[in-house]
Amino acid sequence: VPATEYQAEAATLTQAMVATNHTGTGFVDYVNAAGGSIEWSVNVAEVGAHTLTFRYANGTAVNWPMDIAVNGATAAAGVAFPGTGNWDTWTDGRVTATLNAGVNTIRATGTTANGGPNVDRLSV
Ligand code: GCU
Ligand code: CA
Repeated sequence: VPATEYQAEAATLTQAMVATNHTGTGFVDYVNAAGGSIEWSVNVAEVGAHTLTFRYANGTAVNWPMDIAVNGATAAAGVAFPGTGNWDTWTDGRVTATLNAGVNTIRATGTTANGGPNVDRLSV
């Protein structure tokens, strides 16, 4: 099944805002504080393990980890989002998680004082 793309700027944002200074189309910039989140609603046909692909940029030299929650429960804690070289260089971070058939919520929460990295979209 081809992945469906869910833009970050169309998701529900907490301590995070839409920005456009590092892409043409917009991305989400977390406030530099722990606890900010992006929450998407995603729809899949089949129950089971799915790859969640987060398109992100981190212009620092250090990891800016996030916890990934599915339907309100942590599915992957402290997922690494290492530096990408600069804020204009985007790459994919991948997590495998079990989803229900139908609508699921996926939340990505920055866990350090840096907040999360810049996030362009989630593909499922
Ligand atoms: C820079 C960059 C932002 C980024 C921020 C940060 O200001 O332009 O896109 O989010 O650093 O440190 O989080
Ligand atoms: Ca930021």
